Amino acid sequence: MFKKIKKAVFPVAGLGTRFLPATKSMPKEMLTVVDKPLLQYAVEEALSAGIEEIIFVTGRGKSPIEDHFDKSYELEKTLQEKGKLELLNKVKGILPSNVKVIYTRQGEALGLGHAVYCAHSIVGDEPFAVLLADDVFKCKTPCLKQMVNAYEKTGGNHVAIMEVPIADTAKYGVILPGSNDGKLVEVKGLVEKPKPEDAPSNLTISGRYILQPEIFKYLAEGRTGAGGEIQLTDAMAKLIGKQPFNGLLYEGERFDCGDKFGWLRANLTFALDRQSLKGPLTALMQDLLKK
Ligand code: G1P
Repeated sequence: MFKKIKKAVFPVAGLGTRFLPATKSMPKEMLTVVDKPLLQYAVEEALSAGIEEIIFVTGRGKSPIEDHFDKSYELEKTLQEKGKLELLNKVKGILPSNVKVIYTRQGEALGLGHAVYCAHSIVGDEPFAVLLADDVFKCKTPCLKQMVNAYEKTGGNHVAIMEVPIADTAKYGVILPGSNDGKLVEVKGLVEKPKPEDAPSNLTISGRYILQPEIFKYLAEGRTGAGGEIQLTDAMAKLIGKQPFNGLLYEGERFDCGDKFGWLRANLTFALDRQSLKGPLTALMQDLLKK
């Protein structure tokens, strides 16, 4: 039996410059896909994987995130009085009352590895998950749940992986694959954002991780890597050989909502899944394509 994954870290301090001006005063994690913020998709995914404690690593200008995951007395009272019970349940049900939420700040934008390190004293000495809200998934079994299922068999560290065209490796952390057991691939090396000619494979990390607390020892070194940032991938690479490390080729689709086209693709795909939107949206798209 391996220690249960109860805590999840959500690095949400990023500036979101790719979505300016939308993200000038609104956190990029609050951009919506249809009618739900990106971050809520990730939080729901974590809860469905058994997470009991949510740790948000925030920064300046991120207070709408705190408000979103807090109780809104005024709104709840108004919806109750107006008898809008379906909406009331949507608002009330964002976080079950047994889930603990902790906020900590990342004072400086020094990279993903630094953001995760900011949560080290809250995580303590237990394995934990990391979820990047930019990555939204459409999976039958939620992506993190698939990873927890794999972790329960092997223990150690896990990253969600997917295949990309080799030309795209410079956007991702890339694994050097070893042997595989179907969808579970041994990770023998990791490189952050390599050029295609330097990439060890075309298997790249999607923003879901299960990590052992020993990662903090390497993050504490604060070494900078790709882009001059403290990279989570570099610290993970140091765990290889010391602890089991696997990549899971998850079943489902990932949408890069940190990118305008990926975000639009997610909006259209998720909207087509809504019974009330499917008909009118299909008609609109057919109409637009005729022009
Ligand atoms: C981060 C990670 C990268 C990973 C990617 C997934 O990069 O550093 O290893 O492949 O998320 O979305 P970012 O997209 O923040 O540049």
